[in-house]
Amino acid sequence: MPKLVVVTREGEESVLDVEAGLSVMEAIRDNGIDELLALCGGCCSCATCHVYVDPAFSGLLPDMSEDENDLLDSSDHRDERSRLSCQIAVTDELDGLTITIAPED
Ligand code: FES
Repeated sequence: MPKLVVVTREGEESVLDVEAGLSVMEAIRDNGIDELLALCGGCCSCATCHVYVDPAFSGLLPDMSEDENDLLDSSDHRDERSRLSCQIAVTDELDGLTITIAPED
């Protein structure tokens, strides 16, 4: 089972065992980390699941859709590590992926 390392806004780190196929957002939410609001439930329409992804894994991530790109543009905290966590499916290849929850907009 792939592992996901999640760092909260306060810098608290958790290591989660995640079933492949779940989205990063679902994995974070299902493990009781409640600072990721994920208000739209994963439909790529809210941007409240904004995270920063460890650049070492950026080449393994699915391509960003136009919708995701537009939503991230609405955030004051976007940088080159930004992704919407509902748009990243956890795979075996992403084992060890480190995700930091972005500041709230
Ligand atoms: S949960 Fe709304 S865009 Fe990801």
